[in-house]
Amino acid sequence: VTKNPQQPEVNIGLVGHVDHGKTTLVQALSGSWTDQHSEEMKRGISIRLGYADATFRQIPGVDAPECYTVEEETEDGTETDVLRTVSFVDAPGHETLMATMLSGAAIMDGAVLLVSATEEVPQAQTAEHLMALDIIGIENIVIAQNKVDLVDRERAIENYEQIQEFVKGTVAEDAPIVPISAQQEVNLDVLIEAIENEIPTPERDESEDSRMFVARSFDINRPGTTWDGLMGGVIGGSVVAGKLEEGEELELRPGREVEEEGQTEWRSITTEIRSLQAGGNMVDEVRPGGLCGVGTGLDPSVTKGDALAGQVAGKPGTLPPTREQFTMDVELLDRVVGSEDDSVDEISTGEPLMLTVGTATTVGAVTSARSGEAEVKLKRPVCAAEGAKIAINRRVGARWRLIGIGTLK
Ligand code: GTP
Repeated sequence: VTKNPQQPEVNIGLVGHVDHGKTTLVQALSGSWTDQHSEEMKRGISIRLGYADATFRQIPGVDAPECYTVEEETEDGTETDVLRTVSFVDAPGHETLMATMLSGAAIMDGAVLLVSATEEVPQAQTAEHLMALDIIGIENIVIAQNKVDLVDRERAIENYEQIQEFVKGTVAEDAPIVPISAQQEVNLDVLIEAIENEIPTPERDESEDSRMFVARSFDINRPGTTWDGLMGGVIGGSVVAGKLEEGEELELRPGREVEEEGQTEWRSITTEIRSLQAGGNMVDEVRPGGLCGVGTGLDPSVTKGDALAGQVAGKPGTLPPTREQFTMDVELLDRVVGSEDDSVDEISTGEPLMLTVGTATTVGAVTSARSGEAEVKLKRPVCAAEGAKIAINRRVGARWRLIGIGTLK
């Protein structure tokens, strides 16, 4: 099988404070951004987990870092060699979308943290996003110090030192810091080199059972389509293990809620993979990296309006259990993320928590709380394996705020 160079092989989170230049950087590296994808399905996926693919290339016979580029041809007409295609997963910089950032983090293999040289370090979401990376355990990080074209040398150095100081003791402590101007396309070769070195494509084992995190789901039929022209439901998300193949059976968990004799119960759904889309193309199989769309044999009313977002899909019989309640080990943060002075109170019995597990976000009521442990009963169940990481959010004022991290027992 020849590998399609357009199919991304690694997911890189692009995180940082609002306006620090994520959109501009992705545009510079890929020439496209989520908003510009025309296909309905793809657009649908990207709105929530913004993403764009970029192909890194190398100019033959040129030394590093000048050899790194995203252009297919140099100015003098030399063709460049493809290194690999990566997929950037955008984390919206607005704090209310922290849950999206965390569900995005579930599919990130590494991250680029963008910090603007024009502002003091850290800005609120710079701190929040770094903490989220820390919590989810994303260790392969590159820091891009952006907008250096807007500051003088002295200020750039001062800001660089602030960044160094800020990341001390965090997961990004040893991350390279690359000064760039995304807008003026300055130093992007050095940034690509750093990404190539720091964020390798993880070893993938194709023989592993397939596993996909579902981020969106759709009914792609136009209104008024008659039954004989109806397309099956579509799910969108990212494969994190094994591979999906056209024609295979696929199980989805938790599935759907069924009512029988006055009792309701969650039952997994089994369907078939009718079509696959990745990197903008129809393909026969999908491996980890980038986002994919899966056409299924499901009634589109089942997949409509993100109804299956947050579910887990894979080879039938291999998925982790569906949990309507669980116990988790809890590690609380010292302070509420994004605030200077709110210390985090212990979790108490009866309080509602918003929990992010994989790409699923659900509200749970605490049924029992001890120091370092909590038991929750969920409004909507999740499919998750023992040891899964859980982002724990508490309502503080009008917003859900990240207060800690759980590990499923
Ligand atoms: P959100 O998506 O809202 O979180 O913002 P963002 O991080 O995507 O920032 P965006 O790329 O939209 O950039 C914000 C502003 O900064 C825009 O007006 C950009 O043109 C500008 N900008 C981004 N990078 C640079 C840079 O390197 N130099 C200069 N001078 N301006 C930049």
